[in-house]
Amino acid sequence: MSKILLTGAQGQVGRELEEQLLLNNHQVISCSHHDLDITNEDEVASMFFNVDFDLVINSAAYTAVDKAEDEKDLAYAVNALGPKYLANGCKQKNIPLIHISTDYVYDNNIEDFHTELETPHTNCVYGNTKLYGEKYVQESGCNAVILRASWIFGRFGKNFVKAMLNLGKTRDTLSVVSDELGNPTPARALATDIVAIANQLLQGRTDAFGIYNYCGHEAISRDEFARVIFKEALKHKLLDHDVFVRSITSQEFGAKAVRPHDSRMSTKKFEETFNLACPKWIDYIEETLKA
Ligand SMILES: NC(=O)c1ccc[n+]([C@@H]2O[C@H](COP(=O)([O-])OP(=O)(O)OC[C@H]3O[C@@H](n4cnc5c(N)ncnc54)[C@H](OP(=O)(O)O)[C@@H]3O)[C@@H](O)[C@H]2O)c1
Repeated sequence: MSKILLTGAQGQVGRELEEQLLLNNHQVISCSHHDLDITNEDEVASMFFNVDFDLVINSAAYTAVDKAEDEKDLAYAVNALGPKYLANGCKQKNIPLIHISTDYVYDNNIEDFHTELETPHTNCVYGNTKLYGEKYVQESGCNAVILRASWIFGRFGKNFVKAMLNLGKTRDTLSVVSDELGNPTPARALATDIVAIANQLLQGRTDAFGIYNYCGHEAISRDEFARVIFKEALKHKLLDHDVFVRSITSQEFGAKAVRPHDSRMSTKKFEETFNLACPKWIDYIEETLKA
């Protein structure tokens, strides 16, 4: 049994992580924002100095993508400085860190399945702060696995699947953008695979540190994803009427933050390195809709 420090434990991925870690018989030092503010360097340092643990999983983040455009400093503190302080602690303690990043670093005009070899680029504050987070983790010299995940949904917290269902309950028609392509990722599968990686690292594996894409298959556009969600909701009797999805452009939608038009990711490096298969996201829609 190992002791794991988990940050962001009340988030949609954090809650799944806590469950999977306990199922794997790990002892979890489970920290919500209130237990450990990762932007407070002294608080983080004191946690590393006073408490004993073998590995850190950082699932804490500032994830309000549009709001981040107006809260740059806060987003930077949580997404860039927080990971930096955690990575520094891991380096000093000589323990591994698993950190979650985002597909929003692939806003680089490449219209294909993105690979980790590309030069990342982003056009929004959220993406920029997450990119700094990756950079600081790598510069710290700690042994880290960084997973770039995308379009996460699951049973806990807020996400696109639940938002569509809630809107669909009171609407017959919804406008959803068609010029955003990506890979939905089930939070529970991500958590299961993070714990599998943690187990490999805790068993002494040292050849797998680096950056990896992690997402569900198959890739899809936002509007098509919404259509699948409504079809599944009807099938499981969670909606009593069909919802027509009208396709619009992201310019018409007018979100404050600029998102990538094509952030589909290749997961080959992840699957080959860890000998794990990324999930089919469709298998997780029902449990999310019913949550
Ligand atoms: N959601 C997505 O679609 C998506 C896509 C790609 C990548 N990701 C990445 O996946 C990871 C997990 O995301 P998620 O969807 O689980 O996010 P989430 O549901 O928003 O959870 C993030 C958690 O971080 C906590 N947090 C915020 N500021 C903190 C601070 N200063 N100190 C400690 N904890 C703090 C939040 O607590 P409070 O609520 O109390 O502030 C929240 O519980 C993040 O790294 C995110 O960037 C998410």
